Amino acid sequence: MRYIGGKSLLTDKICGVINSEIPKVSSAIDIFAGSGAVSQSFKKAGYRTVSNDFLYFSYVMSYASVVLNKRPSFRNLGIADPIKYLNALKPEDTDFKPSECFIYNNYSPVGDCERMYFQPENALKIDIIRLTVGETAKRKVIKDLRR
Ligand SMILES: C[S@@+](CC[C@H](N)C(=O)[O-])C[C@H]1O[C@@H](n2cnc3c(N)ncnc32)[C@H](O)[C@@H]1O
Repeated sequence: MRYIGGKSLLTDKICGVINSEIPKVSSAIDIFAGSGAVSQSFKKAGYRTVSNDFLYFSYVMSYASVVLNKRPSFRNLGIADPIKYLNALKPEDTDFKPSECFIYNNYSPVGDCERMYFQPENALKIDIIRLTVGETAKRKVIKDLRR
């Protein structure tokens, strides 16, 4: 995921500057983590990494990419490759209604607002993936790893 203003293309430079200016540093804090791209590069560079942001999405992204050291198995889902499964989902495979589709209605030309970040079909794809993951969590087939 790329943020507007994201630093994913600058992470090598950021770590390079830290290395050359403060070579003995062992910990790094990414105070406005957003997508977590900077936190991920700190972790990869071997720093003890603290990631901070007040948005829940950022917490989730950073938890998955910085806190976890291995990919969860998702074995309770009974799906060999959940990412492949979700990417292949089509709106007609699901029972979700367009009115439930937040991204479709708020971030594509379909809705009333002016934000046109996504083509309607891409917005719908994001929504059915998001809603399917939500349903799975409600059925308690997946759970928050902290618990
Ligand atoms: C431009 S984004 C950061 C992008 C990030 N460095 C990246 O490369 O993806 C700025 C972030 O700062 C966070 N933020 C803004 N004010 C904040 C505050 N007072 N406390 C915590 N996070 C804050 C926002 O939620 C947003 O995710």
